[in-house]
Formats: sequence, C-alpha cells, structure tokens
Amino acid sequence: MNVLAIESSCDETAASIVVAGEHVLSNVIASQIDIHRIYGGVVPEIASRAHVEKIESVVQEALKEAGLELGDIDRIAVTRGPGLLGCLLVGVEFAKALSVSRNIPLVSVHHIAGHLYSPYLGREVNGWGENVPGGKSFDPYIGIVISGGHTSLVKVHPPAGFEILGETLDDAVGEAYDKVAKHLGLGYPGGPIMDQLAAKEVPGEDLGISLPRPMLKRPDYEFSFSGLKTAFATEVEKLGGAEFVRNDENTLIQLCKEFQEACIEVILTKAKKAMKEHKIERLAIVGGVACNKGLRRAAEKLQTKYQIAFPAPEFCTDNAAMIAGLGAHAELPAESTSSSMNASASLNLEASFQGWKG
Ligand code: KG4
Ligand code: ZN
Repeated sequence: MNVLAIESSCDETAASIVVAGEHVLSNVIASQIDIHRIYGGVVPEIASRAHVEKIESVVQEALKEAGLELGDIDRIAVTRGPGLLGCLLVGVEFAKALSVSRNIPLVSVHHIAGHLYSPYLGREVNGWGENVPGGKSFDPYIGIVISGGHTSLVKVHPPAGFEILGETLDDAVGEAYDKVAKHLGLGYPGGPIMDQLAAKEVPGEDLGISLPRPMLKRPDYEFSFSGLKTAFATEVEKLGGAEFVRNDENTLIQLCKEFQEACIEVILTKAKKAMKEHKIERLAIVGGVACNKGLRRAAEKLQTKYQIAFPAPEFCTDNAAMIAGLGAHAELPAESTSSSMNASASLNLEASFQGWKG
C-alpha cells in the first residue's frame, strides 16, 4: 500500500510516501527554522502562513522523489493534532481537498503516535526492524517522546494502542533546551547547540556545577523541566551572568554538560522504571531530542539489558514519514474521503485510535 502523508503541526511542512508502513520512498521537509530563528522560537501566525506557501510544492516534491503520481496513491494520511491549530488546519484542509477531488481514502493520525511509530521506518536504518532478531516485532514497548512540544512516557501496543504513563507538568524537555540556550544567547534551536557544547572536553578546572534532577525521586512518571530551567538561570547569575558564561569556554562547557546530564538522567531513569514495572524490555526513544548524541551514548550502555530503538535522525524531528507509516495501519473506512475531518490542537492520544486494528 502506498501512503502519502502530510504533516504541518508545528514549524515543518512535510510530505512523504511510505510503502507497506515501512519503506520510505520520499521524506520531504521544508523547515521554517531560519524564519523563526530571529524570534528565538516558533511564531504561530508566521508558521501557518509559511505552511500555506509551501504545502503544494512539498507534496509535489514527495511524489516526484518517489517516482509516483497521485493515481498511484492508495491512501492519504494527515496529522490532525495535537499542534498549533492554524498550522494543523493547513495540512488537514489540503489533505481533504486532495482526498475528495481524487477520490483517495483519507485517515487522520495523531502526531505523538506518529513519533512513537518512527522506529519502524526504513529497515535499512536503526530501528525495530534492524534490532529485533528475525525482523520487525509488534510486541509492546515503552516509548518516550521527547521533543520541543512534548515529554511523554507511553506504554505502546503497536501499531496503535497507547497508555500514557506520565507527561511533563510544565515545559517539554526540548523546550527547556531551547529556553536555556536562548537565555545564554546561543541561538535557536538550542538542543543541537547545547548537545555539541556538552560533547566537548572540559578545558579548565572543575567548577563543581550542580543542577537538580527534577521529579527523579517521585514514584510516578510525571516530568517537570521548568524548575531545571530556573535553576540553570540562577546558576548562570552565580557564575557571572549570561555574557560571561557565553564567552568563557570552560564555564560554558561545564554548564551545558551538567544541564544535559540532568535531562538524560531523568529521562533514562523514568524509562527504566517503566520497563521494570511493566515487565517490558523494549524501549523506543523518539522525538527531536532523541537526536541528542549524549543521550544516545548513555542509552547504548543499557543495550546489554534492554532492546533500545532510536529512529534515524531524519525520523526523530518532525516528518511526514512517521505519519504515512502509521497511517498504513488504520482501519478504513473510519474517515475515508471525509470532508468533515477537523484539526484538533489538543487531540487525545489514547482516544484517537479507537476502532483501529492492532
Ligand atoms: O520533534 P521536533 O522536531 O518538534 C516537536 O514536535 O516539538 O523537536 C524539536 C526539538 C527542539 O526543541 C530541539 O531543540 C530539539 O528537538 N533537538 C534537540 C537536538 N536536536 C533537536 N535537543 C537536544 N539535543 C539535540 N541534538
Ligand atoms: Zn513532533
């Protein structure tokens, strides 16, 4: 089955064609990072307008790269939510128009569910397909979604059964990365910049910087990154202010390392606890922050005990391939060629798949 997917929930206009839920023929992403960089974050109205300008050419490009025409498409999948409403609407309305005018069935996909499906994409990259002896397994796994908009720990019954174990009570982990980097004047998005700095060797004396590990001792699976962000800002003041820290390599590297270690410790400790409690030894780490090299290195050490899947970086940050992959599993005709589908900024993950197979 050839699925064409459209994703426009935040600041990436994306389209992709995936065959049989796993072979990615094209994965086109028009990123708006350069547009939003001067504001230090995503501006919803500007994002929505940029989606309108890009969506048609992005879909055309996805078809061209795949060497297919609309007539070869068996199904269209679109991100219905959650996300920025004005952004979601662009993708949903475009998908509806294509579906109705070309009589191609349309299914909606939850954005977070798409992230959680991303380890199944592309057998040639590191995901479940490669890690699992004998090929792809649809056994349950614990998924942790870490991105700019979300931090959720989920028990997944793949492809589309979800039980949320815990979420962030305030900032998402990627948002915390972006905000502390902005505080230091390092640029946007902050995650990759902080990751690079944290990987550097400490050039000077040990400053003994210590940041909290929020919610680590709590018995539940909730997260909080707002306090860590505040502790970071307080530490910056103690160390001599943002300008000093930014320009003093030794201080900057040690502060980034400590922030990164705090995030990694919280993420992996909660994930391990969930695997132990639910007697599941499979973990998928997904979302933009799953690109983090420090996190990947730390998780590799757990590979002896657990099966850990990281999607390839192009399937970690927002993309339409994950939407197309999961969309292949939808039971039709729930919303086939539906002109009544609505975008939903706060779509519920657990409820959005009732009626799906799997
Ligand atoms: O999944 P994504 O593209 O968008 C959302 O759905 O939010 O994730 C973007 C987030 C940003 O906050 C960015 O700073 C973070 O992912 N990110 C990283 C890294 N690469 C991207 N965070 C930490 N380390 C990285 N290497
Ligand atoms: Zn996302």
